[in-house]
Amino acid sequence: MQGAARSCSRPVFLCYTSWLSLSLPFKYQLMMSEHQRHLITSALPYANGALHLGHLAGAYLPADIYARYLRLKGEDVAFVCGSDEHGAAITIRAKKEGVSPREIIDKYHRLNKETFERLGISFDIYHRTSDPLHYQTAQEIFLKLYEKGDEFEERETEQYFDEEYGQFLADRYITGTCPKCGHEEAYGDQCEKCGSALSPLELINPRSTLSGKKPTLRKTKHWYFRLDKHEAWLREWIGEGLLDGHFHHDPKSWKKHVVGQCMSWLDGRLIPRAITRDLDWGIPVPLPEAEGKVLYVWFDAPIGYISATRQWAKEQGKNWEDYWKGENARIVHFIGKDNIVFHCIVFPAVLKAHGEYQLPVNVPANQFLNFEGRKFSKSRGWGIEQHEYLEAFKDFPNKEDALRYALLRCMPENRDSDFHWDEFAEYHDKDLADKLGNFVHRVLVLTNKYFEGKVPQSKPQAAFSEKMLALARRWAAEIEAFSFRPAGQAFMELCEQGNIYLQENAPWNLWKQNPDDPRIAECMNDALQLTALLSIVAAPFIPFTAEKMRRLLQLPPLAKGDWKQALGKLKAGENLLPEGHQTGKPEILFAKIYDRKDDSRLKIIQAQKARLQAILEEEKKGQAPELKPEVSFEDFTKLDLRTGTIVAAEKIPKANKLLKLEVDLGFEKRRVVAGIATHYKPEDLIGQRVVLLANLKPRKLRGVESQGMLLMADDAEGKPGFVSPPKDWPDGFPLR
Ligand code: 2FM
Ligand code: ZN
Repeated sequence: MQGAARSCSRPVFLCYTSWLSLSLPFKYQLMMSEHQRHLITSALPYANGALHLGHLAGAYLPADIYARYLRLKGEDVAFVCGSDEHGAAITIRAKKEGVSPREIIDKYHRLNKETFERLGISFDIYHRTSDPLHYQTAQEIFLKLYEKGDEFEERETEQYFDEEYGQFLADRYITGTCPKCGHEEAYGDQCEKCGSALSPLELINPRSTLSGKKPTLRKTKHWYFRLDKHEAWLREWIGEGLLDGHFHHDPKSWKKHVVGQCMSWLDGRLIPRAITRDLDWGIPVPLPEAEGKVLYVWFDAPIGYISATRQWAKEQGKNWEDYWKGENARIVHFIGKDNIVFHCIVFPAVLKAHGEYQLPVNVPANQFLNFEGRKFSKSRGWGIEQHEYLEAFKDFPNKEDALRYALLRCMPENRDSDFHWDEFAEYHDKDLADKLGNFVHRVLVLTNKYFEGKVPQSKPQAAFSEKMLALARRWAAEIEAFSFRPAGQAFMELCEQGNIYLQENAPWNLWKQNPDDPRIAECMNDALQLTALLSIVAAPFIPFTAEKMRRLLQLPPLAKGDWKQALGKLKAGENLLPEGHQTGKPEILFAKIYDRKDDSRLKIIQAQKARLQAILEEEKKGQAPELKPEVSFEDFTKLDLRTGTIVAAEKIPKANKLLKLEVDLGFEKRRVVAGIATHYKPEDLIGQRVVLLANLKPRKLRGVESQGMLLMADDAEGKPGFVSPPKDWPDGFPLR
């Protein structure tokens, strides 16, 4: 087997070299980089709804940046995705809407596919798990594991059955009261209120979501994948990612939060998991005794990556196995953190059990993106879906790249982050319009003015090009390490350096003094070379703008290997744009949002903010408390409210909530019993100014007569606070 004879300095690799190319240290991987095949996946979204900006920032934009970068580096890339079209979420939605699951998946498959295209997510294929090739792939893998004999276990268990509908109920088809928090609408697999993972049998008062009736228990047989058998090697394999955590640019260095989540799963011990279900929607279990049963959606969904690759390779005349099984296949899964366990534990175990597949070299899962300080919530209208954004911003120039850049800046790479419209506007104006757009515009305007748009003859200035080369290399290294935000910063620093360079050399001053000054050509040549470099460096993040820059520079559209070629030239001190190359007419790349003469773009942003404001106000209204029944003025005047001061306080024996207080009203002292002992120490109350209802009929509490009542109100945490009069009001003062 591959690499069995390779030795390496760190013993941790030794046991895996027989089946994992990823176990090679980075330097060896670089040596074979010529032959690498990159299989990049983004989580297959369920085809039962649209995706919002959080999804885009989580699993699609970062994967696209990575894929675009690798193509520019000249690598062999397959970037695959598609619709996840099985699972109870889809059948439930179909039932609710009174349509067939097929109608639902067709609608959302089309919508999501088109929307990704419009946003420039450059999948090589957007497949779907209802495709026959996927059925075949998933069934083949199931059978291969089944035939191994010890990967599966058959179990007969009791499961809920809806007598009226005559079917077994998937976890999501059962609701009931959560045994942990008492939430009455918990699902059979999870309580969405307290987040506990549940099993249907744990629910109190279970109900079928189909008939609304109490389900019965019936025996049924299922196939369980022996995940427990894989625990030992999984632990070491995942641990390897952690061990290498200190090598920042080692592709094996997994994100800490990913390793952490996996380890806590492994620490909870792995148990066999049912991979079949009693459902009528899904891929039939390919066994004669399994009629009416389908594969569990989480068993077939990740196999969707393989089916998508097969379909793509068929269309391209390539061999799909090179991307999954070959020694040089480098698989990377881009997902959100809610999918970590399936991609880092369950699916790798399936692949390992199968025996022929490579394991992912990394799963750079992102955390969650919030929206203006809260979680995205479709039901509350909080957030914005991808296609809604494209619609709302249809008159916003360069809307796709404006969004991609804003999401890059707040990408939840290592912790949850937040999207804000104000920041969207700020990044757009300060970074895209000022730093990038301004630089490119100035370079083209000046080239037109001084050299009729032609690249002047000059050698690159060593100091400047070295700085550019270092920044561009940093950009590349950060992307290779899945650190996209820092990569974006390197890109912006390149723009900044360009502006500083122009400002410091001020070719406009030189030109005023002597248009033939050779320093003008030197400066403009450097600036033009940087512009050409920027058209490459910008491309993974803002591909539409990068292509526009290419047009403005009259360069061909970007092609595979352009970065590799540019890097070679930069290292050799050569120009990217040849002398005499004709550039085009300058155009604005990004029109600012904050523009005193044109507020059309600002209005689009303001409309979004106003929509959110309206939701908040509506919610506030909903929260207004119901008032007590009206009282008359006469009723009110019956209350005798007086200012006073607490002059003594003590605990009441055997009543741990009550305090006995003495309140001085100026003209007399009153004894008051108050239920505040858990919040206040008696000694802290001396001198506290209060308002007392002084004509309340006395009543006994724990044997102590209380002669009045203090006005108090609870704060947000439930701690009672005193209504206290201004300092200069004397005790005994009547309130009206
Ligand atoms: O969470 C989800 O939206 C799943 N449909 C993701 C599946 S990823 C992969 F396994 F296909
Ligand atoms: Zn709960």
